[in-house]
Amino acid sequence: TSNIPVITIDGPTASGKGTVAHKVADKLGFHLLDSGALYRLTALQALRRETPLNDEHALAKLAEHLHIHFAGDAIYLSQENVSDAIRAEEVGNTASKIAALPAVRQALYGLQLSFRKTPGLVADGRDMGSVIFPHAPLKVFLTASVEARADRRYKQLIGKGISASMQDLLMDLKARDDRDMNRAIAPLAPAEGAHILDTSAMDADEATEQVLKWWAATHK
Ligand code: CDP
Ligand code: CDP
Repeated sequence: TSNIPVITIDGPTASGKGTVAHKVADKLGFHLLDSGALYRLTALQALRRETPLNDEHALAKLAEHLHIHFAGDAIYLSQENVSDAIRAEEVGNTASKIAALPAVRQALYGLQLSFRKTPGLVADGRDMGSVIFPHAPLKVFLTASVEARADRRYKQLIGKGISASMQDLLMDLKARDDRDMNRAIAPLAPAEGAHILDTSAMDADEATEQVLKWWAATHK
């Protein structure tokens, strides 16, 4: 599979990774790996089963035995559609805590590699370019100011009819950035050779265009 192309899109929360990865995958007809969803699914299971968040062994077991199934944009855990449940802020925060545990990351490693199928893959997360697909022909690191990102999350929540406080969002976002950037294993940072794109003043279509331009340039 090592000759199947992969485009990695990493970056902090609400930098637009998911949105841009979707658009790029649609445009190229590639498969999509939302690696954050795997950490979120593990977190959701842990919260439901009240698994202690310091029980690394039990959490890794949960990660290893996830019965997940992607159908279009929907994500199923066993037979249940959990697409909305995994997007809750509490689940994101828990995901970021358990993602610092090496055994959990190890448990999800093989599953992530298995998404690499013809004709290609767009993978988004934190360590797609640095750890999971270090030889990807195109690596992108998306970023944006904390304020721009909090504003995006705010609009997403309001759009879904969920009330939100900008102050709480900013606080959560900074705490998550801090945890993701400062953990010992697979910390959030641009991978070697990554193109860095600051999208603070860019919409998702403009960011997608830039990624597609870089992709076209890798074949020249
Ligand atoms: O996956 P990640 O957490 O990085 O971000 P996302 O879930 O794709 O959410 C980003 C939100 O900001 C979406 O509502 C996008 O429409 C919007 N947005 C974006 O993705 N990219 C921009 N350059 C500007 C806004
Ligand atoms: O959409 P958002 O950027 O807020 O989060 P996500 O991509 O769904 O990921 C949720 C959490 O999982 C992140 O805060 C990371 O701590 C963790 N994660 C990770 O460690 N490695 C990845 N490849 C993807 C997510």
